[in-house]
Amino acid sequence: MTKKKIILLLIVIIVGVICFLMNNSTYVARIEGKKVSSYKQEIEYGQDYSFLPNDISLQVTYKDQDITDLLEYEDITISSLGTYEIVYSYQDYSFTYEITVKDSSGPTIRLDDQYEVLLYSTFDVNSLGIDVIDNYFIDDIELDVDGQVDTSLVGEYSIDIIASDGNDNQTTAKTTIVVLAPVNELVEGTNIVANPSDITVYISKEYALPEGWEPDDLVSIGGNHYLRQEAASAYFEMMAQAQLDGIDITLVSSYRSEAYQTNLYNSYYATDPENAPYYSAYPRSSEHELGLAIDVSDKYSLYNTLDETIVGIWMQNYAYQYGWIMSYPEDKTDITGYIYEPWHYRYVGEELATILYENNLTLGEYYDY
Ligand code: DAL
Ligand code: ZN
Repeated sequence: MTKKKIILLLIVIIVGVICFLMNNSTYVARIEGKKVSSYKQEIEYGQDYSFLPNDISLQVTYKDQDITDLLEYEDITISSLGTYEIVYSYQDYSFTYEITVKDSSGPTIRLDDQYEVLLYSTFDVNSLGIDVIDNYFIDDIELDVDGQVDTSLVGEYSIDIIASDGNDNQTTAKTTIVVLAPVNELVEGTNIVANPSDITVYISKEYALPEGWEPDDLVSIGGNHYLRQEAASAYFEMMAQAQLDGIDITLVSSYRSEAYQTNLYNSYYATDPENAPYYSAYPRSSEHELGLAIDVSDKYSLYNTLDETIVGIWMQNYAYQYGWIMSYPEDKTDITGYIYEPWHYRYVGEELATILYENNLTLGEYYDY
């Protein structure tokens, strides 16, 4: 090839390239009126989107002629976080619109001003029924608490609820947790007994002690146990005879204050609200508050097959001789309102206990209540 020919070829190539570039540069893309050669955009997951050129404010001209309507592109559906490319093309021209879908917003927490939880319940932020929504996968949301809720103390606790989504976004909101005692006053319609100090007084679900009443002749019967004087003497006599008979009786419960019974009832109620009233007396309605009741067993637990044990059998046969009677027998649960308690004995005095025992009566039946 001669030098001339080479120069000619080079000129042809250069002119070709220039023409190509000029041809190409006759396409102009604009987004919102600004010239661009490509474009990157970020959107939040869940935000409305459309790739119609008009909706993304894309305009393409060719030699000043608007060819936007002639652009072709493949529509996409956004189903997860990530970067997507939409290519708008016309003949040999193309324009790339890159869209990054992110999740940078925290969940929205819809909190009530306060939530009530029961005294002695286990505090679990997930059981409060807090309504949380998020733009991304709702299943990934975790709730946490900043602050202390002491469910063993009635009161109001200000806490922060922290909702985190699966993408390190957090939202915090304040609320108050109210720890409530389910029972602190008597059910309406309960009668108040007039003779709380009477050894033979009957109290039940319907007959309660006057507010603040407590026995004035409690004596210690060992350990942390107390009974009214007369019941204590009868208890010692009974225990002495049991021992002579080779029966080893364990005392599990005796006198309880109103406050103690309130706590006890509330703690049962917190975990078992449906059944608690059938095995625990309301405050002011427990024979234990009279200082005239004992719970006994052959070990330090109460169970309903106690009646098959030597302790249970001995108590059933002989306790009345010392003035004690089983308050809540198996065949009288509908009358007493309590489950069978083979361990719970009430002191009523030897005379009345014998009448009740011989006639198979509960104290309530005896008084015809
Ligand atoms: N368990 C009996 C009913 C009481 O609480 O006194
Ligand atoms: Zn009891």
